[in-house]
Order: sequence, then structure tokens, then C-alpha cells
Amino acid sequence: MIKIGLEKIKADQLSTKLNVLLSDYQLFYQNLRGFHWNLKGRDFFELHLKFEELYNDAQIKIDEIAERILTLEGVPLHSFAAYLNTSEIKAANNVSNGKKGIEITLENFQQILLLEREVMELASDAGDEGTLTLISDYISQTEKTVWMLSSFLG
Ligand SMILES: [Fe+2]
Repeated sequence: MIKIGLEKIKADQLSTKLNVLLSDYQLFYQNLRGFHWNLKGRDFFELHLKFEELYNDAQIKIDEIAERILTLEGVPLHSFAAYLNTSEIKAANNVSNGKKGIEITLENFQQILLLEREVMELASDAGDEGTLTLISDYISQTEKTVWMLSSFLG
């Protein structure tokens, strides 16, 4: 049993899954920075700011996920090499079209949501209320963002 009273084997399984989520978020974060930087066209001022808002939000979640892994007595991945090995999200290169950037963002969010629901199942099985609350909030926030980005695309 770990210090916060969860079964060690279940806490380890959660840490492993949360490290995939952490890696996904790191690749997603860097995708968003690329969209923010390379953007061209009439939507520049609007989307430059929107991508910044999204990567700032991703950065907060990256830290929270890593610290949840530590709370579960796991070790958060922290090298670029480890993130590339573990992430299910692919790097997006040289995207300067805002609409394309939003489409990739929506695809990345879908991958993240599917993984977060897997985390929810594991956390539920482990009786891990802390992880459930954290990830449950992420899911509802992300789902709302998906709606707004989809509305932007029309
Ligand atoms: Fe900037």
C-alpha cells in the first residue's frame, strides 16, 4: 500500500497510464506552440491568441499530471526522448493555416479524451478519488473547448 492508502499495484498502473497522458500533453503543447508561431492569414490576431490560451492551459495540466504521478509514488517522464517514445499524439510540422491548426487540435483533443476516459476507469477501480476529480474536470473543460473550436470551423 502507498502512503495515501491506495494499493501499490493499482497506483503503479495509474502512474503508467498518466505518463502516457503526460507525454500526449507535451506533444500537444508543442503542436500548439507551432500553430501559434507559424500562423498566417486573416485569422492571425484571433487564432494567435487562442492557441496561446490553449498552450497555457496545457502547460498547467502538464504540471498537475506530473505531480499527480508523484503523489501516486510514481516517476513522471521528463525528457523529450521519453515523451516521443510514449506519446500517442504525433508532432504536427509547419502548419501555418489556422483552420488546419484547429482541425489538428480537435484530433489531438479526441485522443486525449479517449485516454482520459481510460484513466477514469483505472482510477475508479483503484478507488482513487483524487485522480478521478482531476481528470473528470479536464474532461468537461476539454469537451466544452471542443464544442467551441468546432463552432469556429462552422
Ligand atoms: Fe507568443
